Amino acid sequence: MLGPVPSPSPVPEPQASRPGASPAFESTIPIIDIRSTARSVTVAALEEGIRNGVLAGLSRPYNEKELPNLLLYNEGGLRLFEQITYQPDYYLTGLEIDILSRYAHQIADSVPDGAILLELGAGALRKTALILDALEAQGKAVTYFALDLDKPELLRTLAELKGRYTHVSLAGLWGTYDDGCTWLKQIKERPRIILWLGSSVGNMTRKEAGQFIRTFGDVLAPRDRFIIAIDSRYHKLDDIRAAYNDRAGVTRRFALNALGNINDLFNANVVDVSCFDYNPYYNEIQGRNEAYFRCLKETQFKIPSETPILVHEGEYIRFAFSHKYDRVERQMLWTAAGAHPVQEWASRDGDYALTMLSWAS
Ligand SMILES: C[S@@+](CC[C@H](N)C(=O)[O-])C[C@H]1O[C@@H](n2cnc3c(N)ncnc32)[C@H](O)[C@@H]1O
Repeated sequence: MLGPVPSPSPVPEPQASRPGASPAFESTIPIIDIRSTARSVTVAALEEGIRNGVLAGLSRPYNEKELPNLLLYNEGGLRLFEQITYQPDYYLTGLEIDILSRYAHQIADSVPDGAILLELGAGALRKTALILDALEAQGKAVTYFALDLDKPELLRTLAELKGRYTHVSLAGLWGTYDDGCTWLKQIKERPRIILWLGSSVGNMTRKEAGQFIRTFGDVLAPRDRFIIAIDSRYHKLDDIRAAYNDRAGVTRRFALNALGNINDLFNANVVDVSCFDYNPYYNEIQGRNEAYFRCLKETQFKIPSETPILVHEGEYIRFAFSHKYDRVERQMLWTAAGAHPVQEWASRDGDYALTMLSWAS
């Protein structure tokens, strides 16, 4: 997922890809390394942060252990997550596609010509393409920046859009959400639209989510917008449970890949993945899926230079949350972020929503 510490890189002006251009002349979609723009979060610091999170989380008492959810998103994990989005059980993507298929043109209406579009945690770009297609159809000259953690995946997913647009320019931003927020401060001359799709906000606690969105509000100008997609609590419990434990077992593979990623991060045999299984639990009161590893056989995490950490058979280790929001909780989130909703697009049953936020008074 993460390479060596980069030297600071200039910000190249992205080029619109030209349809029909021969591969020899077609410009490569630029991937801008912004990891070094946020000095406190260089790649080394990020990797170090995840390693520290692993150690701290595993040092907690029996059945209170946890692991950082960033372990999920290495190259293999991102590919598995893309497969999850094609599973019929993972209703979130289907609902978002339904909304975007009907309203992408309205979203495009609200994007000024000359704007930049920054997508946080872009992942695979199947849904984003619906918005970019609508912008292209309106002839809007916008620059789209896909931000994510893994450079090979940014290259792969953006390459799938190469040659598709004449008005829309494409680029990748390689870094964390925080790096993206820092980078955004340099882009003051152009209207800025932030996209945060896939209900990724659900991975944060409700408190963290409000604070996080607020940090963007502190950077954005009154004309700028933040579009966020959030899943609701208004689904059948069985549907929510199936979404986080699909019949094809892709989510299970995605989860266990995160455990294997610990071995890569420490470059050592830290954990025997076969000693664990994936065990999700939907906490109805908290309105969130909680993803756990369940220990099948007593084992030890052997982190280099640390005392081995014993995990007992039957012990649970939490590694991810997926919070759902009802209407009141959504309103509380906007309030915590200091933002107000200017437009909302919802799925047919109102159980998934895209909200456009503004900080204009
Ligand atoms: C739930 S997936 C959603 C992917 C895609 N937006 C979608 O809707 O299908 C979360 C995405 O956010 C990215 N991500 C998670 N934490 C991140 C962070 N701190 N900084 C940058 N990207 C992050 C992951 O790599 C992944 O692509």
